[in-house]
Amino acid sequence: MALRFEILGRFNRARAAQLTLPHFVCQTPLFMPVGTQGTIKGLTTNQLEEIGCQIILGNTYHLELRPTSELIDEFGGLHKFMNWPRAMLTDSGGFQMVSLLHLADITEKGVTFQSPVDGKPMLLTPEESIEIQNRIGADIIMALDDVVRTTITGPRIEEAMYRTLRWIDRCIAAHKRPHEQNLFGIVQGGLDPVLRDICVRGLVDRNLPGYAIGGLAGGEDKDSFWRVVAQCTAALPEDKPRYVMGVGYPLDIVVCSALGADMYDCVYPTRTARFGTALVPEGVLKLKHRAMADDTRPIDPTCACMVCKNYTRAYIHSLVTKDAMGSQLLSYHNLYYMMQLSRNLHSSIVQGRFPEFVCNFLQKMFPKGD
Ligand code: GUN
Ligand code: ZN
Repeated sequence: MALRFEILGRFNRARAAQLTLPHFVCQTPLFMPVGTQGTIKGLTTNQLEEIGCQIILGNTYHLELRPTSELIDEFGGLHKFMNWPRAMLTDSGGFQMVSLLHLADITEKGVTFQSPVDGKPMLLTPEESIEIQNRIGADIIMALDDVVRTTITGPRIEEAMYRTLRWIDRCIAAHKRPHEQNLFGIVQGGLDPVLRDICVRGLVDRNLPGYAIGGLAGGEDKDSFWRVVAQCTAALPEDKPRYVMGVGYPLDIVVCSALGADMYDCVYPTRTARFGTALVPEGVLKLKHRAMADDTRPIDPTCACMVCKNYTRAYIHSLVTKDAMGSQLLSYHNLYYMMQLSRNLHSSIVQGRFPEFVCNFLQKMFPKGD
């Protein structure tokens, strides 16, 4: 195991912890910005450090296509290749193939798909996913899982859950660097509590350094989503980090943290930035809106980020969709907002004022009580 997880404070099921990884000591709950091709779109690694980002996420699938794990390995890993000194996590690749390429097909061997480069059929096995992730060198690597949409029902959900359990043993056997990289297992099982329970038990038996809750944020209703998270966090070990994959919106992160989850990732803050949307305590602010054209205020007058200290809404409005700087400034602010949210969750839990923080957060977001 290449991590330490020390709980510093609790409030009911919520926890604030220190997660010591090979490249960085992180405070949880934490949000991981998503970088696909070895970059968080529009931000330098210096800027990521400046906003207090502790850990970033990379995708095996994208990195293997370009620049390839072979090249990254020649540079001594992705940390050195992209000049990122802090922690990093890579996802295993299967989920991206299934969600991006509808041509992907899953068999017991692995995930087969047509290469977007030359159209040739390719196969990503659990062994290969781990080999690639060993070459990339992230602090946390993810097991290859069989992901199905939560909105699907029937025997496919059960098949995917059992296959994910069979694949975890192939991932464990293939993992060559357990003292430098932490392999996390992923709980699948759709919205079925019986299947989720079998999967959690199976993974916990393997005594992994951490666990992820997968197969969510795929269009299921909030009640089902929170129910699965609550069930999984209650059944996972207290002393290991819990990561809810692909989540999410600020409100979801607050709720999942109250339910005992520790880690999150989502493209939302940077993707929505590229569409001209800023995250603010009241919800969202659409910078494209005509009303912004002569607004002299910063995006969020209560935000301490570089963008809010230096630029007006009017200036950003004038850039959005016209110059890359518009989405870069918005991405910077949005990620700062997510980092500030993570810090506030951590400190409010440690200081025993988590309920006050949550009430305040909800009051600003839903002022009319709607
Ligand atoms: N990203 C969001 N959800 C998932 C999931 O269920 N599995 C994997 N590997 N990545 C994800
Ligand atoms: Zn700001």
